Amino acid sequence: MVELKSVGVVGGGQMGSGIAQLAAMYGLDVHLIDTDPVALSSATKSISASIQRFVSKGQISQAAATDALGRLHCTSNLEELCSSDFIIEAIVESEDVKKKLFINLDKIAKSTAILASNTSSISITRLASATSRPQQVIGMHFMNPPPIMKLVEIVRGADTSDNTFYATKALAERFGKIVICSQDYSGFIVNRILMPMINEAFHALYTGVATKEDIDTGMKLGTNHPMGPLELADFIGLDVCLSIMRVLHAGLGDSKYSPCPLLVQYVDAGRLGKKRGIGVYDYRKLKNHFNEARKSKGALPF
Ligand SMILES: NC(=O)c1ccc[n+]([C@@H]2O[C@H](COP(=O)([O-])OP(=O)(O)OC[C@H]3O[C@@H](n4cnc5c(N)ncnc54)[C@H](O)[C@@H]3O)[C@@H](O)[C@H]2O)c1
Repeated sequence: MVELKSVGVVGGGQMGSGIAQLAAMYGLDVHLIDTDPVALSSATKSISASIQRFVSKGQISQAAATDALGRLHCTSNLEELCSSDFIIEAIVESEDVKKKLFINLDKIAKSTAILASNTSSISITRLASATSRPQQVIGMHFMNPPPIMKLVEIVRGADTSDNTFYATKALAERFGKIVICSQDYSGFIVNRILMPMINEAFHALYTGVATKEDIDTGMKLGTNHPMGPLELADFIGLDVCLSIMRVLHAGLGDSKYSPCPLLVQYVDAGRLGKKRGIGVYDYRKLKNHFNEARKSKGALPF
């Protein structure tokens, strides 16, 4: 197996920035690409803040943090991926947009490079078919946030080679992750099970079964989930959840995967979750509430 030295990450949102951070912390040269300069600048800030948290917890030294940041190059120029050994796509969850990117990556990347997608649900086989190297295309599905969550779900397309699979597995393990393997069917393992649960929580809210707080508390305390499903949906991004439900619905052809109208309406209204300050919950109000509490008490009780 060829030794990996440099990684390209396309998409500097919540997932791409976390994946780029991991790769830089584990000694790889990283090019992080985003078409949106605002996203690139907030990715740089969030990576730097996250690496600093590893330092303050004593998990890495200041020197290792400085080295990691020195290995990270942020740019909007896709052509800079021409020397990357391994490229991970983490852009918007849309098959058309991802396919266009894969066509471009196929032209730009060196012939030996592996092209991985962090897609939550979209067919790897179809993304691979947009390229001239389907044997070197694979799903590498990190969980959110990538620097913290232990799992990587690997998805082989119909033509993914053993070499590509083992190189991807080795990279995930280098990052300290546990790997699970899924067949290439809509939603793979994790989102096939998680998203219908989140969608059902929206139905419970939509049909007035309970308040959002009680739905979340019910699932946290009743089933020992660290976050309630509505809170988790806000954390993932309601646009991402809706796209995944649509992929499940189209790919598996069962009406049980039809997205809840309330989820659709929130996305239409731009309530995309925590990243926009409002989703099911209003984080702008929560932030003000916490700031007020901090002023009056000196510190928060948690
Ligand atoms: N959010 C999650 O919890 C989660 C978890 C696992 C996997 N994923 C998957 O990861 C991918 C990204 O999700 P996210 O939550 O980081 O989204 P996000 O909206 O936070 O970020 C997407 C980024 O991609 C950029 N982008 C869009 N088109 C681009 C292009 N053609 N070239 C370069 N950059 C482009 C956007 O500017 C944006 O910064 C999706 O496929 C999603 O399904 C998300």
